[in-house]
Amino acid sequence: MSKFLVTGGKELNGKVDVSGAKNAVLPIIAACLLTSDKIILEEAPDLLDVQVMSQVIESLGGKIKRNGKRMHVSIREINSVETPYDLISKMRASIVIMGPMLARKGRVRISHPGGCAIGSRPINWHLKGLEALGAQVRMDHGFLDVSATRLKGARIYLDFPSVGATENIMMAAVYAEGQTIIENAAQEPEIVDLANFINEMGGKIRGAGTNIITIEGVRELHGTTHTVIPDRIEAGTFILMAAACGGEVLVSNVISAHLKPLLAKLDEAGVIFKEEDDGIRVISKGNYSAVDVKTQVHPGFPTDLQAPMLAMLTRAKGTSVITETVFENRFMHVEELKRMGADIKIEGRSAIVQGIDSMYAAPVAASDLRAGAALVLASLTAKGTSEIREIHHIERGYEDIELKLKGLGAEIIKVE
Ligand code: UD1
Repeated sequence: MSKFLVTGGKELNGKVDVSGAKNAVLPIIAACLLTSDKIILEEAPDLLDVQVMSQVIESLGGKIKRNGKRMHVSIREINSVETPYDLISKMRASIVIMGPMLARKGRVRISHPGGCAIGSRPINWHLKGLEALGAQVRMDHGFLDVSATRLKGARIYLDFPSVGATENIMMAAVYAEGQTIIENAAQEPEIVDLANFINEMGGKIRGAGTNIITIEGVRELHGTTHTVIPDRIEAGTFILMAAACGGEVLVSNVISAHLKPLLAKLDEAGVIFKEEDDGIRVISKGNYSAVDVKTQVHPGFPTDLQAPMLAMLTRAKGTSVITETVFENRFMHVEELKRMGADIKIEGRSAIVQGIDSMYAAPVAASDLRAGAALVLASLTAKGTSEIREIHHIERGYEDIELKLKGLGAEIIKVE
């Protein structure tokens, strides 16, 4: 099992390029199932999760080739409707194949994804939406069997603006007869990227990025070349690392509009940054004040930046209250941060973080992707050398994180 050895206390300086967004490319690869034509994806990050999604597509009959940041996807024929259990259980996000499989093949058999470290994460709203379009859902020996002879457009109100449910319904509705309207839809930038991709293939989706999305059913989609948006969570993580460590870092290849909820909080905390043409420049001495943060759906503060933000605030002046409203049980990083000297108390869905002067190194383990990023951030500021285990979680979502950090002057080594 590989691990990171991180020696803290170094300033970060220089420029770091953000990769394409994991949470955009995953549903986009799934959407490739909607056409038999060839697709080229530019800025596709080479991540463990992307490899798993590629294997899922290959298990259904697709062909995928990677050439640097470019991916060639070709799914001329789909010769299976069932995805192996071990692939779905490796990555919950692979449930977004349900919508496009239903649209193109009229059936999909997928093992129930079950829970994960950050909560039970049910998929009831995905299934409710697909049923509203005319699909039948059966549970059989741990498998979900979803099928439809014909999908028909419908008006679907989501109880909560779920990202995955919005994506699945949007893709299922692409070939449905007539119009589908998703109300209380998720508004995340990754939804907009997926809708843009489908429209580039000939789809008719309007309203992505607002809470009402309209999908007009079409007969056929064709091939295209699409450039994936930059990863706002990776960008946010580097911005937080730069703020915490001190130094001057240009985080480039970002869409700053996607980072507004984070930038507003950093401004409130007294972190100095500039929005420039090619990125966001953070100029920090590693001093900042405590702020209260509440995670919300977009355009609120993203839950995926809660853990790195909390790690940064462990050294702020004053007391911060961080409230997680999107996922239950998303404070797994807190116990590990406490092992590094952090002063944090959990009260219900909030973490009360009393800022301290400095953290110390400790052996810690990543419980999930963003918790892992929080531990990397904390160990970059801690005194001594921390050992971070279970880094496969981190590599699911951060491309070349140790190389990128080394490029900024951090002392980080990956040990196999
Ligand atoms: C996506 C992102 C994830 C991010 C999350 C919220 C991907 C691959 N993952 O996850 O990084 O943290 O959005 O921005 O894009 N829920 C239900 N029933 C459902 C669906 C969701 O109860 O049918 C609940 C979940 O348990 C969770 C909340 O709704 O508490 C939000 O989930 P959702 O927006 O669906 O997140 P994901 O699509 O799983």
